[in-house]
Amino acid sequence: MLVLGIETSCDETGVALYDTERGLVADALYSQVAMHAEYGGVVPELASRDHTRRLLPLIQQVLDQAGASRTELDAIAYTAGPGLVGALMVGASTAHGMARALAIPVLGVHHMEGHLLAPMLETSPPAFPFVALLVSGGHTQLVEVQGLGDYRLLGESVDDAAGEAFDKAAKMLGLSYPGGPQVAKLAELGDPGRFRFPRPMTDRPGLDFSFSGLKTHTLTTLKRLEQDGALDDQARADVARAFEEAVVDTLVIKCRRALDATGLKRLVMAGGVSANARLRERLERETDKRSARTYYPRGRFCTDNGAMIAYVGAQRLSAGERDEIGIMKAVPRWP
Ligand code: KG4
Ligand code: ZN
Repeated sequence: MLVLGIETSCDETGVALYDTERGLVADALYSQVAMHAEYGGVVPELASRDHTRRLLPLIQQVLDQAGASRTELDAIAYTAGPGLVGALMVGASTAHGMARALAIPVLGVHHMEGHLLAPMLETSPPAFPFVALLVSGGHTQLVEVQGLGDYRLLGESVDDAAGEAFDKAAKMLGLSYPGGPQVAKLAELGDPGRFRFPRPMTDRPGLDFSFSGLKTHTLTTLKRLEQDGALDDQARADVARAFEEAVVDTLVIKCRRALDATGLKRLVMAGGVSANARLRERLERETDKRSARTYYPRGRFCTDNGAMIAYVGAQRLSAGERDEIGIMKAVPRWP
């Protein structure tokens, strides 16, 4: 089964072709990051308009890459949510329009299930069951995964997501959007011993997270440095380092607890923040210690992409799931 996957939930137009026998056949991404950068964040209306411009050419591009014609497609999968409603509508209407024209099945999939299963696209994918740490711009969750569609939420953020915290800290540090990679880069120059930021909600049992207090702590630290006339480049790097250490340490502590609680030996990390090198290194060290293993997607499949949507779509479509033709789904908030 050859499945076209379409991702348009936020600021990346992602398209891919996944074949249930051959695996990933082609993928292409158009990132709108540069367009939104001057506004310091994603502007929803601009995002939808740009998806409209980019999507059809990108679909043609993956078909060309694969040397396939659209008539060879067996089904189409698209991100139905959660995300920006206008952006989702572009992918949903294109998918439904094509499916109707080609008379093939179409299915809306959950964006976070895409992230969750993105490591399945790698050469040595994790076997079920596993614990997944989902860390993106909109979500921070720990999930026990028994199989496709068999997910149990172990814990999640009660306020900001980890990626959101990175983006906000970046703004305070005068760095551009998206902030995660920039904070990580600046943190490399920082002294880990200068500041110690709190590890929120680690002093009590449980697997939930909270990152909004760290944001306030970062702001207060920067203000104090400024008042003291000490806010130079080194101080900014030291703050970035303390911030990153606090987020990473908090995530590691909760992952350790989740592995203990479930007794599982496989930890999967996915979502944009799973691209963070320090987080990867710490989690790998942690799983090594307990003869467990950490899995993560290659860099470009950590952030939004069409491949993960094509993959999840292919699994669910082969199991017979599909949308009713013409009833497209665009679900901005989808638990
Ligand atoms: O999964 P994703 O591409 O989009 C959402 O579904 O949200 O995640 C984007 C988030 C952004 O908040 C970005 O700052 C963060 O992932 N991010 C990082 C890194 N790369 C991306 N955060 C920390 N370190 C990184 N290297
Ligand atoms: Zn995402």
